[in-house]
Amino acid sequence: MKIKNIAIFASGSGSNARKILEYFEDRSDIQVSIIITNRKNAGVLSHAKEFDVPTLKIDRSYFYDNECILDVLKAEKIDLIVLAGFLWLVPAYLVASYPNKILNIHPALLPKYGGKGMYGHHVHEAVKENNESESGITIHYVNEEFDEGGHIFQASCELSIDDSPQDIASKVLELEHNHYAEVIDRVLNEL
Ligand code: GAR
Repeated sequence: MKIKNIAIFASGSGSNARKILEYFEDRSDIQVSIIITNRKNAGVLSHAKEFDVPTLKIDRSYFYDNECILDVLKAEKIDLIVLAGFLWLVPAYLVASYPNKILNIHPALLPKYGGKGMYGHHVHEAVKENNESESGITIHYVNEEFDEGGHIFQASCELSIDDSPQDIASKVLELEHNHYAEVIDRVLNEL
């Protein structure tokens, strides 16, 4: 059986990356083969260490000024790239090399609250400011624009008028943790 390989790109605390690592830990058909981060102190690095997954730290020049990362992904036989709190725009050469094989999770119901600068707490503060009665998550393919690729999955949560941006963040993160790995599994099975 051919094993399918995932590369996770993450820059934040890495809680989604951890959920994905846990989900695929005992699978013989799918594995997380590498975790790539642009922050040297990213929380995701400790999860990678715990799960014994190799990591690569990149800087802007490495990511944007040449295409070396393609060699790394090729060497790992990567089938699917998963962004989990990775905030840099994915360069065109990478999108072209992995068409419909790069996924992102966004902490809102796109197309609302997406685009450049709309990430993490900025999203939840904007949702609060607009007194939205719901928020949620969008899992989508990645193209050359922030948050504009085709949608694969959305899930929503009700908000109450008393919810703070932090409360909204917690509800949304719970949805992310409940759904991202399963959607990844489904997409990989359809490849
Ligand atoms: C997640 O909420 C993810 O949706 C968000 O960053 C957080 C990372 O959390 N991504 C974006 O806002 C992308 N525009 P984590 O490091 O705990 O997984």
